[in-house]
Amino acid sequence: MLRFLLTTVLLLVPACIVPALADTTEQRGGTYALNGGETIYQGICQGCHMAEAQGAEGAGHYPALASNPRLAGAAYVTHLVLKGQKAMPSFGDNLSDQQVADVVNYVRTHFGNDYGGAVAPADVRAGRGE
Ligand code: HEC
Repeated sequence: MLRFLLTTVLLLVPACIVPALADTTEQRGGTYALNGGETIYQGICQGCHMAEAQGAEGAGHYPALASNPRLAGAAYVTHLVLKGQKAMPSFGDNLSDQQVADVVNYVRTHFGNDYGGAVAPADVRAGRGE
């Protein structure tokens, strides 16, 4: 399973962040030098969910985030980014609480989504469940 995830990531995530994934450092956050929701989206999420968050079908199913009612749940989106799910990798070990909050808030307020209840870094920390 881990090998499948790593293969998926290496194939689909832009080459610029692959060195960061290969870095097995234990530090929390900051392994991706990306700041702000839009930059993080473009640097990480766009590789699978596409530039307009329209998703993709091909080697796998990458759901659209655009106009997606499931994004109304802030805790759900936070959980996905922290822990991953099926073919979606987890980013909890590589993004700081602030970075996770920024990208979660970004996708929940762009691409036809307009959901309130912004996530704060403290919410992300709580969502790590440690
Ligand atoms: C390597 C590809 C990949 C990357 C990178 C990726 N995702 Fe995903 N994402 C997926 C897949 C595949 C699923 C569907 C998971 C499933 O089947 O449950 C998914 C599901 C989701 C969902 C749930 C959508 C729904 O309709 O329930 C959200 C929200 C999401 N991703 C957000 C993000 C964000 C934000 C990022 C960037 C931090 C990101 N993803 C990066 C592959 C990816």
